[in-house]
Amino acid sequence: MQDSRGLTLTAESSDAVGAYEGAISSFLNYDSVAGSLVKSTVADYPELAMATILRGYMTLMIESSAVQGKVQQIAEHLLANPDRLNKREQNHAKALQQWAMGNPAGAALVWDQVLAATPHDLLALKMHHYTTFWRGRPAALRSTVESVLPFWDETTPGYDHVLGMHAFALNETGRYEEAESIGRAAVEQNPEDLWSVHSVAHALEMRGDITGGVDWFRERLDTWGSKNPFRGHLWWHAILFPYAAGNYEEVLRLYDTGLAPLSTDFFLDIQNRASILARLELANIEVGDRWDELAEFAIGRTGDHVLAFTDLHCCLALASTGHSQELARFVDSMTAHRASLQTNGYDAAGYEVAVTLARGIELWVSGDGATAVDQLWALRDELLPIGGSHAQQSLFGQLITRIISEFDGQRAASLLASGYSAFPSHAATIDSFLAVLESIEPMNRTQRALIESTKSSREILNQLETTYFSAQIE
Ligand SMILES: [Fe+2]
Repeated sequence: MQDSRGLTLTAESSDAVGAYEGAISSFLNYDSVAGSLVKSTVADYPELAMATILRGYMTLMIESSAVQGKVQQIAEHLLANPDRLNKREQNHAKALQQWAMGNPAGAALVWDQVLAATPHDLLALKMHHYTTFWRGRPAALRSTVESVLPFWDETTPGYDHVLGMHAFALNETGRYEEAESIGRAAVEQNPEDLWSVHSVAHALEMRGDITGGVDWFRERLDTWGSKNPFRGHLWWHAILFPYAAGNYEEVLRLYDTGLAPLSTDFFLDIQNRASILARLELANIEVGDRWDELAEFAIGRTGDHVLAFTDLHCCLALASTGHSQELARFVDSMTAHRASLQTNGYDAAGYEVAVTLARGIELWVSGDGATAVDQLWALRDELLPIGGSHAQQSLFGQLITRIISEFDGQRAASLLASGYSAFPSHAATIDSFLAVLESIEPMNRTQRALIESTKSSREILNQLETTYFSAQIE
């Protein structure tokens, strides 16, 4: 049988195809019912291998080693009966197996093959996009979407999802204007796909469009009751705009109402929450006991390593709550995970960067600032492979700058003069820059001029904060 995009499915009835397409659509639209839809599709149509594969993919998106063994068994069971699957389905089962074994790079190679043969395979594209994003490969993110784009147009069902992914990939490769306009077109076609909404938010963040960002979220934030926990990440984006303006009261208000009530078991919630708290601390704002729950999660997560980016946020939670022994144990356990990746012949390069960064944070917390600075200085331009977006990664650039500033003002000044961590431009990064510049002695004319121009940039944000945000509250 064929689905609406012309892909051949091993299915026994049009009802089975309809149920599968409903589950896929719900998954692509970030609906919270997607999990139960795919579960019932698997139960009702056991011959429908793609439903079982979709369920496996969604399970791996929990991003915990606790689920990998079970999914690996499911993939191996599918592959043990290859005659029941067509070639494309066999490849999906192989990708599922690779990913479940902790090898998303291997899975991406299989999805590449699927997309070359069947560019309308939206699930292969989505899973490639997702795992490539978490492996910090923006060029591959874009080239993969652009390799299938010529085969799509408005007449192909699901085109809006492809546009949303394209917008995101453009953003992560520095093409912000195109990203924003394609993202807006995708949202116009389908406002339900939160990834497209998210792509526009990224473009606004990277362009420093604070008022545009607040406008983008004003009517949307409270409309996602039926969406899955990815909605928390959109709250994170919404919070970045008042943060950029230096309106920390509003940041804390949005954190407490939007992020704090969310689960502490979902990896992205941990990232979102830790990222905001760490940014507030970089702006010298007290966050009280808000870290405690996250530190507890991090302690429980020791030994369970999948995404480097989550692990780094766990390190921040442990570092900010003074759990130095637990942090050392966590970083040791990350080091052991890196070794296991190497032993298995998997792509360990990204994780290697995360381990080095985590060690730098541990050294800083333990008081060995000089060694931390050397380690982090060497790493400063190599952060991409830790995964996540530029907007998310900018936190670590700012943290590196802060640590270097504490121990080596001269190197910090040269780092900041090069524009490092100044993008996207947030009040907190400007303030850090000013503090470093003003501590330089003796100061030359260029440095004095730089101080004046930086103060003007800060003044613009000040005015925005007092006029725009006050107007929002009234
Ligand atoms: Fe994002």
